[in-house]
Amino acid sequence: MIKLTYFAHSAFSLEFEKFKILIDPFITGNPLAPVEAKNLNADYIVLSHGHGDHLGDTIDIAKRCKSTVIAVNELANYINSKGVNAHNMHIGGVYSFPFGKVKFTIAHHGSSSPEGDYMGEPAGILLMINGKTIYHAGDTGLFMDMKLIGETNKIDVAMLPIGGNFTMDVDDAVKASEFLKANLVIPIHFNTFPVIQADADLFVEKVKKAGLTARKLNFGETIEL
Ligand code: NI
Ligand code: MN
Repeated sequence: MIKLTYFAHSAFSLEFEKFKILIDPFITGNPLAPVEAKNLNADYIVLSHGHGDHLGDTIDIAKRCKSTVIAVNELANYINSKGVNAHNMHIGGVYSFPFGKVKFTIAHHGSSSPEGDYMGEPAGILLMINGKTIYHAGDTGLFMDMKLIGETNKIDVAMLPIGGNFTMDVDDAVKASEFLKANLVIPIHFNTFPVIQADADLFVEKVKKAGLTARKLNFGETIEL
């Protein structure tokens, strides 16, 4: 069984057997975060891209916990230059870790470090753990290849940005849900900042109307997969 916890914005933890995995742990400076970064532990941290609201507390947590950070090559090299162990991957690549498989997909967005340096291409993340497939879209606009991602993976849970401005809005994320055909869609990347206000309840309703299932998670809520 996998325990999936939402920390607001795009941040999640997954706990499976003895493994603790964090995705995009932006906690410090996130007004909605229900925890403090110093209380989060990780064996692995998987990053979608280098922007501050995704890289977040990665370096501090990884140094304290001796975590391995999994990211696309350019971002992984940056992480490594900060004295943190990183596993370099890239889009389309899949690798088996002790907890399961990670594959990076495309995402239409940008990626830079806090210093403004180019961090390679942004990515979406596919995790295959204990027979479950989890798709975290990262930051992205809607793209047609989501249909392919849905056709080639039986997705149990998809986390999709709905906040607009930097990413898909509610209606584009509903279309993405139709492409992906995940068993459950969780809306992310909304309400953290004034420019990404979105109605997650409306999103859930619209996904339901499309014959699919979405659920808005409370900040700090854990579900079991
Ligand atoms: Ni971003
Ligand atoms: Mn973002």
